[in-house]
Amino acid sequence: MVKEAMLEANEGNLPSVAAPVTPPDSGERTVSKGRTKKSQEISWGKIRQLIERYVRERPQDHIATFLADLREIDISRKDPSAFYRTRDLVRPMGQKIMAAVGQDLEDPFYYPDVRAERYTTSTISPIRYLMGCIRKDTTAIVEFGSGWSTNLFQIYVGHGTTRSASIGYHGAEYTIEGQECAKRLAQHDGKINYFAHSFDYRKPNIAFLRKYTGHILVFTRHSIEQVQTINPSLYEDLCSLRAQVTIVHIEPVGWQRSQELMRRRADDDAAFFGGIGETIDGDIVSVERQLANAAWWSWRLSYNTNLLSIIEDYCGRKKGRLVKREYDFSGVGNIMNPSSLFHVELW
Ligand SMILES: C[S@@+](CC[C@H](N)C(=O)[O-])C[C@H]1O[C@@H](n2cnc3c(N)ncnc32)[C@H](O)[C@@H]1O
Repeated sequence: MVKEAMLEANEGNLPSVAAPVTPPDSGERTVSKGRTKKSQEISWGKIRQLIERYVRERPQDHIATFLADLREIDISRKDPSAFYRTRDLVRPMGQKIMAAVGQDLEDPFYYPDVRAERYTTSTISPIRYLMGCIRKDTTAIVEFGSGWSTNLFQIYVGHGTTRSASIGYHGAEYTIEGQECAKRLAQHDGKINYFAHSFDYRKPNIAFLRKYTGHILVFTRHSIEQVQTINPSLYEDLCSLRAQVTIVHIEPVGWQRSQELMRRRADDDAAFFGGIGETIDGDIVSVERQLANAAWWSWRLSYNTNLLSIIEDYCGRKKGRLVKREYDFSGVGNIMNPSSLFHVELW
C-alpha cells in the first residue's frame, strides 16, 4: 500500500513526466491542458506524508536514504570519459564514438557507452552536471519550480555538508505543499542551510537573492515546461543581482528551435498538431519527427513556448554567454517530453 502510494505520488515528480492527464487518442487538445496547481499540490502532499512517515519510523536514517527510497538519487559517475582520455588503447574508439554525435572526449556531459548491444553515448546525470557548476565562491544555489527540492537535496548530498556550510540552498516553488515537504526534509537533516520560498514564473520575485555576493547557481528542471509564457523579467532581475549568476535550464523545449513548429504553435494550429497526434508512432527514426512529437506534447498540455527565445535574446544582446546547449539529450521519464540543457553565464 505504501509502495503504491509512493509510486502514485512520485509520478508527477519525475522530472520528465508530464502532467497526470489522460492522453487523448489524437491531437484533441480540448481534453488535455497543463497540470493544475491542485493536482501538483496533491502529489507533493503525498510525498510529504511519506517523508513524515520515514522520519517517524527511521529517525536515524540520512536524507540520502530517503531520497533513494523515493527513487531520487541520480548523481552518476564523475568524468566517465577520463578512462578514454588516459588510455592509449581505447582512446581512438572513444574519440570515434564521441565524434559520431559531434562531441569529443573533453565534453563534460556526454561519454562513450554501450547500450542495447551498440556503441553509443550516454550523459552524466543533470545533478552531476549542476554539481560541476558550483564554484569556490558560490554562496547560493537556487532552483525555481523546485517541487519538494529533490534536486537541491541531491546536490547537497553530492557536495557534502562541509563544503555546503557557506552555501544557502533555496527552493523557490509554486505550491505550499512542495515547500513544506522540503522544509521537513531539511529539518531532518539539520545541517543544510535550506530556505523555501513561494514563487511563480508569471510574477517572479527573487528578492531573497539580493543579499548575496560572490556567485549564485540558479537552475530549473521541468518546471518552466508547465508555464506557457514565463515572464522575461526573471532574467532582468537575475542580471541586476550583486552576485555573478550561472543559470542552467533542464527543460523540454528543444522543439522550440524549429521555426516551423513555433509558427504552428503561435497559430494554435489544431489541424496540424492533431495530425501529428494521429500518426504519433509512424516514424521513430527522424529528428524532425522527434521534434514534432515533442511540440505536439507541449501543444496539447499548453506547455512553455518562450524559454528558448528568452535565452537567445539575452545571449544575442551580449547580456549572457551560452556555455553549453544540448538539445533533447534524454527522455528518461517520457520520450515525448525530452530534456534539453542550456547553461548560461549572465553578465
Ligand atoms: C514536474 S514538477 C518538477 C519539480 C522539480 N523541478 C523536479 O525536478 O523534481 C513541475 C514543478 O513546476 C511547478 N510549477 C508549476 N507552475 C509553476 C509556476 N507558475 N511558477 C513556478 N513553478 C511552477 C510545480 O509546482 C512543480 O513543482
